[in-house]
Amino acid sequence: MRSDRDLPIGIFDSGFGGLTVARAVWDQLPAEDVVYLGDTARAPYGPLPISQVREYALECLDLLDESGVKALVIACNSASSAVLRDARERYDVPVIEVILPAARRAVKVTRTGDVGVICTTATATSQSYDDAVAAVPGVRLHTAACPLFVDYVERGVTGGSELLDVARRYLAPLQLEGIDTLILGCTHYPLLTGLLSYVLGDGVTLVSSSEECAKQVYAQLTDLGLARDAGHVGHRRFLTTGDPSRFSGIGHRLIGTELNSVDQVVGAALG
Ligand code: DGL
Repeated sequence: MRSDRDLPIGIFDSGFGGLTVARAVWDQLPAEDVVYLGDTARAPYGPLPISQVREYALECLDLLDESGVKALVIACNSASSAVLRDARERYDVPVIEVILPAARRAVKVTRTGDVGVICTTATATSQSYDDAVAAVPGVRLHTAACPLFVDYVERGVTGGSELLDVARRYLAPLQLEGIDTLILGCTHYPLLTGLLSYVLGDGVTLVSSSEECAKQVYAQLTDLGLARDAGHVGHRRFLTTGDPSRFSGIGHRLIGTELNSVDQVVGAALG
């Protein structure tokens, strides 16, 4: 009989950024089956009001939960910000999101206490990162919404003078605050690590919400006895609310892996 351990991990994102989380999960846990849902038909979530993001995120998470998964991963900072407070009560399976693991890591590595976070407008407005570090003495969080970054990343543009100018403009206020640690508070941003390091220099440590989330997935599955034994070759299935061939194309460009097995989920399934 199939046990809980054999069920897939459900990973959800507004669209493509969560693939950076998925890639980190399957690097660290290659035996795990993964079903990934990208709500590309309604993305980007970043410019939407947080109440709208919440509605969409819960619909998608419900869908993954009903499909039978052993854990839910919210691989999107905007969606995590919108459902952070109640997603854990709503589902019987463990729910792992991106905000708390990244915030926890950043407060550990900062030496000066000045931590920056770059993110979408939805995440900035929700103040989820402010809440996550509020109780930590000596830490000052400085937030910069960077709404143009997602579009550059999805077009495969991670360098060039135009993007460099945008990055310098977004990061200047954080540099003025003297940050020594920067949270990449959007799952698209690991693709911009080279650019961000180039602008900020070696003195600023980058904390990826995607990497920290994947480590948390590893820890939770291990602690709960839900990790699969080595030997199984993890199967990856992708669901999109949009066009499957567009999903494969952009997904491949983002993470350099062929995305086989992309299916469309549509309207009725999403209420
Ligand atoms: N990847 C999403 C995040 O982490 C942003 C993309 C979007 O705006 O939908 O917030």
